[in-house]
Amino acid sequence: MSIVLHATDLTRNYEVKRGMFGKPALVRALNGVSFNLSSGKTLAVVGESGCGKSTLARLVTMIEEPSSGALTIDGKPAALTDKSLRRTVQIVFQNPYGSLNPRQKVGAILEEPLKVNTRDDAATRQEKARAMMQRVGLRPEHYDRYPHMFSGGQRQRIAIARALMLNPKILVLDEPVSALDLSIQAQVLNLLIDLQKEFGLAYLFISHDLSVVKHIADDVMVMYLGRPVESGSAETVFAAPKHPYTQALLSATPVADPTKKRERVQLEGELPSPLDIPSGCAFHPRCPIAVSKCAEAIPPERLVAGRQVACILAE
Ligand SMILES: Nc1ncnc2c1ncn2[C@@H]1O[C@H](COP(=O)(O)OP(=O)(O)O)[C@@H](O)[C@H]1O
Ligand SMILES: [Mg+2]
Repeated sequence: MSIVLHATDLTRNYEVKRGMFGKPALVRALNGVSFNLSSGKTLAVVGESGCGKSTLARLVTMIEEPSSGALTIDGKPAALTDKSLRRTVQIVFQNPYGSLNPRQKVGAILEEPLKVNTRDDAATRQEKARAMMQRVGLRPEHYDRYPHMFSGGQRQRIAIARALMLNPKILVLDEPVSALDLSIQAQVLNLLIDLQKEFGLAYLFISHDLSVVKHIADDVMVMYLGRPVESGSAETVFAAPKHPYTQALLSATPVADPTKKRERVQLEGELPSPLDIPSGCAFHPRCPIAVSKCAEAIPPERLVAGRQVACILAE
């Protein structure tokens, strides 16, 4: 299992204007995120809306540069200008309606990346597009259809097929099934699992919903306000979450076995603004077990029962 992506202490700030005469303020979208991605494996990134997941996706896909920190992809430092490196990482978004050109037929959508990036002739491009269509479960006659003629699940298959046309090593999946019905979600997740096995892909799978990642994740990183609070193998984290935030997220998801009812941990209040992150542990104002010390310093990540936890009270 080789490491194909290495992220060290990534941060990303955005300057925003506050009012007409206000000084520009800093949105701290990402506040120090480190992780590795390995080929054939899935790292799930989980957290509430606004915790910085899509920002992380934009850094990893080299759409934006980090404000600080280092990103190594396929052994090379990430650079927005490195075209061949950018091909190594592809992204699938939540909304397949917005990410597919409505005026292009499926065939043209899939052949576009080849047209731009390779010297394949028209016949080769078509051959590759048709092969990929079959691989993702689209029928040959779909080649000449427009995106609006498909259901949400099929459109997501088109988006996945397009992402794979240039043989990437890494796929960033930003809420890829969040807009789909439950039964369709399972089909698309199964397709992703098959494709990962076949092509040895590394997945960065982003979701606000822990229950979605349960079956696809090898590792999990739970984020709160731009910072990981708990990271480890999915098995370890799901079996017994140690950070109060992970516990709250998990207790909000339904359990398959009703005899194993979880203790419900209620999350109080709204996610604070990344313009004004609480002192110390950013989670402390909403944390059911916080003590005064939690407001003093940012808790360092430490090893607790086989996973990294950023909480001074976890045991
Ligand atoms: N270009 C931007 N300018 C200003 N703020 C931004 C920008 N992009 C994201 N943000 C802010 O950064 C935070 C994290 O956003 P995002 O990464 O989209 O979170 P998520 O995907 O987890 O919902 C949010 O508060 C969002 O409003
Ligand atoms: Mg997002």
